[in-house]
Amino acid sequence: MNRWTVVNLTLLATIAFLVLLNVVILPDFSRRTVEFFPEMVHPVPLESYSSSTVFADGLTMQQPPDGTVPRGYTQPRYGSGEEQAILAGMNLANPLELSADVLERGNDLYRAFCLPCHAADGGGMGPVSMRGYPPPPSLLAENALSLPDGRLYHVIVHGQNNMPGYAAQIHDDNDRWAIVNYIREMQASKPLSDPEIAAAGEEIPMGEAAAERGTQ
Ligand code: HEC
Repeated sequence: MNRWTVVNLTLLATIAFLVLLNVVILPDFSRRTVEFFPEMVHPVPLESYSSSTVFADGLTMQQPPDGTVPRGYTQPRYGSGEEQAILAGMNLANPLELSADVLERGNDLYRAFCLPCHAADGGGMGPVSMRGYPPPPSLLAENALSLPDGRLYHVIVHGQNNMPGYAAQIHDDNDRWAIVNYIREMQASKPLSDPEIAAAGEEIPMGEAAAERGTQ
């Protein structure tokens, strides 16, 4: 035998041995054999509401630092409260044109954030109201019809009495206005002669309501 034959045979034997070893020792693939960074393989997450020795206040979940805003957040130009709401109503102009895209976006957001209380039809008996939360007035009633767009925007951002503000959840200005437009569409497509709606608010003709809230 020459030298190369010996080398080749040795290699072949080694490979055969390794293959055999694989078959004989059935590996358990669900277990790791070597863990280089065990803390990364088995992290110890802290429960959000558990106590913590890391932070001075002893809490695990920390408040974001003052002034933190979500990405893409538009700071509302008016503060909370009735006075600011009236100013917003007078001064804020709806920047969005009515389009199918805007209405679709408004519909999506309305369903996610407003429907739970205001109901799909805007009548106010959404699933949360049905379970005992003070039901809001109908969005199709006289009062909501007479609110200018800027006030609807203000209610979305800051809430009103029993309604919390949604500025943090709906942080993009275009999204807030898309909901305003969606409410307007809902109001326009539901005739006030509907007995259900007439009962929820005093009947006023649509034309007048539109004139009152301006064209913004
Ligand atoms: C947790 C329940 C709840 C949710 C969710 C909610 N609202 Fe309200 N909403 C209310 C209540 C209650 C009122 C009545 C507040 C009051 O007494 O002035 C109200 C009032 C309003 C009004 C004023 C109606 C009027 O005639 O004065 C508008 C407009 C309005 N909501 C729009 C919205 C929009 C848009 C959303 C979604 C972004 C939304 N609401 C989400 C409970 C809710």
